Amino acid sequence: MELPVRPRRLRTTPLLRKMVRETRMDASSLVYPVFVTEGKNKKEEIHSMPGQYRYSTDRMGEILQELIQAGVSAVMFFGIPQHKDETGSGAYAQDGIVQRALFKAKQDFPQLYLIADLCMCEYTSHGHCGILCGQSVDNDRTLGYLEKIAVSQAQAGADMIAPSDMMDGRVKAIRGALDIHGFQNVPVMAYSVKFASSFYGPFREAAGSAPACGDRKTYQMDYHNRLEALREAALDVEEGADIVMVKPAMAYGDLIREIRQQVRVPVAAYSVSGEYAMVKAASAAGYLDERSIVCEMAASAYRAGTDIYITYFARELAGYMKEGIIG
Ligand code: PBG
Repeated sequence: MELPVRPRRLRTTPLLRKMVRETRMDASSLVYPVFVTEGKNKKEEIHSMPGQYRYSTDRMGEILQELIQAGVSAVMFFGIPQHKDETGSGAYAQDGIVQRALFKAKQDFPQLYLIADLCMCEYTSHGHCGILCGQSVDNDRTLGYLEKIAVSQAQAGADMIAPSDMMDGRVKAIRGALDIHGFQNVPVMAYSVKFASSFYGPFREAAGSAPACGDRKTYQMDYHNRLEALREAALDVEEGADIVMVKPAMAYGDLIREIRQQVRVPVAAYSVSGEYAMVKAASAAGYLDERSIVCEMAASAYRAGTDIYITYFARELAGYMKEGIIG
């Protein structure tokens, strides 16, 4: 048959398929989220996230070491404090849980790049991401607290600050506070396009951060919206964000692509706890093969245009990349 164009021609051998591959991945773009908790000698498995743990600072070295060995060089810290109060004071305490974890990780593993998640919901008694005024979160009052948290994290050794609270104007506020305190070179990775998503369910169990009343819909985005996502990303870049993030990842590939085309800064995508939990549950039940699903999800995020991929599977992915299963 006369058929000059035959797409199958370039699929004939593994070598050729790899040669013409369009999406290439590298472990240097992976970020692994780490949960640190108070106390000693703790490594508690998170019920809804099998294989993920909360570590006390004296044991977090175990996972950090494993990550380094696997080829993952960046981690993002989430603190789980013992004490919570109205203003989330544990979030900016000099000896707060995340500050101690950052300080120790910087000392013990100077080769790791340390990102600090900046949010108040793990630290407030009401579980909201800001200061409550009646039933609602007071945007402008919250900003001052975010500034304090950012500075305390940078002082503790954070290489990068990642605000996930979704208050308006926070990037500008945090940038200003970091600069005044001499942290001009600490980048801000903004959770710019963060949806009010049910995919965060397992994380809230992990961090004990579910809101005591109401939900997060007055600050996190409505998942029906696309133009608003583009506006949020543009606004954060204007305010000085060095990197913008889309979160969750799996159901939001369209926005990763659009934002990658719109902005001129690196884009990150966060494959969240619910994505992890779904893969774990389905593979434990024997419904799908974990390894191939993890690879396919990662490739789809990178193909959509993400530059940085934040995932609980970072360690495994680095291994798959090394083995050449993906990459
Ligand atoms: C804190 C925060 C959340 C996540 C990252 N930072 C939870 C939330 O907004 O409720 C979710 C991460 C995940 O689900 O893996 N605001």
